[in-house]
Parts: sequence; C-alpha cells; structure tokens
Amino acid sequence: MTGMAAVQITPVDPADREALLAWNALLRDGFNAGREAAWWASEESVLARYGDPRPGRTSVLLVAHLEGTPVGAAGAEADPGDPAEVEISVLPEHRRRGVGRALAAAVREALAGHAEIVQAETYSEAGVGFALAQGMRLGNQELRLLREMPLDREAMAGAASSVPGVEIRTWHGACPEELVEDWARLTTQMDADVPMGDLTRPASRGEVEELRRDEQRMDDQGWTLVRGLALLEGAAVGYTEIFVSRHDPEILTQDDTLVDRAHRGRGIGRALKLANLENLRAVPEAAQARWIQTYTALGNAPMLALNRSLGFRETDVLSILEGELAGA
Ligand SMILES: CC(C)(COP(=O)(O)OP(=O)(O)OC[C@H]1O[C@@H](n2cnc3c(N)ncnc32)[C@H](O)[C@@H]1OP(=O)(O)O)[C@@H](O)C(=O)NCCC(=O)NCCS
Repeated sequence: MTGMAAVQITPVDPADREALLAWNALLRDGFNAGREAAWWASEESVLARYGDPRPGRTSVLLVAHLEGTPVGAAGAEADPGDPAEVEISVLPEHRRRGVGRALAAAVREALAGHAEIVQAETYSEAGVGFALAQGMRLGNQELRLLREMPLDREAMAGAASSVPGVEIRTWHGACPEELVEDWARLTTQMDADVPMGDLTRPASRGEVEELRRDEQRMDDQGWTLVRGLALLEGAAVGYTEIFVSRHDPEILTQDDTLVDRAHRGRGIGRALKLANLENLRAVPEAAQARWIQTYTALGNAPMLALNRSLGFRETDVLSILEGELAGA
C-alpha cells in the first residue's frame, strides 16, 4: 500500500451541464473498467434525471481529484424512508491510495439526516472488498446474463410457446388504461416476491398514480417500456418488461418477470418472455441493439434455466451490499 495522498473532494452542481456530464463519464469509467458489454446511463438520460428529480429525493454528486487530476467519483440518491443507493468509483490506475475511502466518508457526511441504510452495487472483487472494509455486509448476489442481438427470427419462431387458457397482451410505453390496475397489483407483488437476500426492501410501488408518474419520468429520460401481461381466463397472473433507451439502444435490459405463485411451472414465464421479445421487433430503436441483458438471483434455478434456453449466457456477478449510514 502506498501512503495516503491528498485527495480533494468537490461537489458537482447537477445544474451545471458540463460538470454533470464529466461526473457521469468519470463514474462510468471507474465503475465499468474491465467489464464486457457494460451498460451505463446515457448523457441524455442523466440530464433528464437531474433536470426533473423525484420529489423529496436527496442527490449527492462528488468528484475526487489527486494533484488536480480527476481520479474518482461518487453518486448517491436517497428517497425518504428507503435505503440510499451509493455508487463510488476510482479509475483503475489510481486505486488503493485511499480515494475510495475519502469519497465514501464524504458521501456519508452528505447523506447524514437523509438516510439510515446505504446500499451499493459492484461487479468486482475490489468493490466487495472495499464495501466490506466500509463496514457493509453482502446482502444479495445476482448473475448478469447477456444475449447477443438481434434475435434470430427462426430460432425464436421454433421456440414460440403458448399455454392453454393464457392470453399474452403486449404493448410499448404506458399501460393501457384497462390493464393498469392489474399492472400495479403485480408490480407490488414483485416488490414483495423478488429474491433480495438480506437486503432491506424498498417501499413498494403499487399506487396507480405513482405508476403513471414513473412511466412519464421513464419516458422523459428516453426509455421505451416494452411490456407484456399474461391473462389466465381474464385474470392477470404475470408480467414482463424490457427497457429500451432511445438515446443509447446498444444494450437492452430485460427487467422484471413475475408469474403469480399459484400459476408457476406451467410455462407462463416462458410464453411471456417470448411474446415480449417478439413485441420488441416493433420498437424501431431496438433494431440497433447489440445485446440484451438480464439479472437473475444466483439461487433462482427455474429463471436461470429459462434464460439459458432463450440464449442468455452468464457474464458477471452483481453483488449488492448494505450497511448503516453511520458505518463501521
Ligand atoms: C471499489 C473502489 C471504489 C475502491 O477504490 P480505492 O480508491 O482503490 O479504495 P481505497 O484505496 O480507499 O481502499 C480502502 C480499503 O478498501 C479495501 N479494498 C480496496 N480495494 C480492495 C481490493 N481490490 N481488494 C480487497 N480490499 C480492497 C481495503 O481494505 C482498502 O484499505 P487498504 O488499502 O488500506 O487495504 C475501486 O476499486 C473501484 O472503483 N472499483 C470499481 C467500482 C465499484 O465496484 N464500486 C463499488 C464500490 S461498493
């Protein structure tokens, strides 16, 4: 270990466009160093996010300099009552000199009074080692799986599946009005059901009004929501969702998929995912995608098997850590 260098930490004003974009690029470069097909928020979506923040949210944006050179960055967001989400990254050539530690201390100071619990995500051993040294605990791990795009039409046609009595409805963007109550109910159930290891669960989404606001915010940030809902004899029993960034469609994200407990093991999840991949074809930006990524909890064997059968392969492991803001 080298001696402690003089790290200088300065806040970034999210209203300063240039500074905000430089901060986002620095955070990305440190965080994604060495990773394959790693996604990061586009400039447009970052500008939109900080231009119209969630009401009540506390945002912390910091840059670390060593001898005048930017070497690391941190970001944190805290919604009242929820764990704060913290991101810290240091450029590879400047690691193990105390920059990360100094950023973490500054984040804790800035979040004081705005959160009690902090969570952080990492894809590296360095990140896990660092977070443990910060007094955090490993809360959950998920595999990130990647599949090359575009989808091969023939392979997909061969895989097409239908389940007796089940109708899959698909669309893009906001939920059709007649399905929004079902969507709200199922996403609330997802919040309760999704495996989260030892992590503190965030407050549930659920309210239709809140859901509509989130849809609007996602749209403002350039996201096209590609969605499917499964109806069994008219009752909603599952859903799935893919995010496509209009600004940066290179990597698509297959987000939540939920099938109601009572109806699992009948192929509804598979039928939903396939129908929604088919639905993706009608989204013009998706034609530019090179990858689709998805996350599955390490122990979720049925979902891993389903994803593998759809051509996804395991790429890296996301570790989510949690600790008290007061720290070690
Ligand atoms: C994690 C990261 C921010 C650490 O930055 P850093 O400036 O190298 O960290 P520091 O020098 O302040 O390290 C502080 C302590 O963390 C622990 N630590 C840091 N890197 C580690 C590693 N590679 N393996 C094990 N422990 C590590 C050590 O206890 C270290 O103290 P020491 O150097 O006295 O032993 C950096 O590796 C990084 O940007 N990684 C990719 C992004 C990421 O995963 N961020 C999420 C962090 S939760």
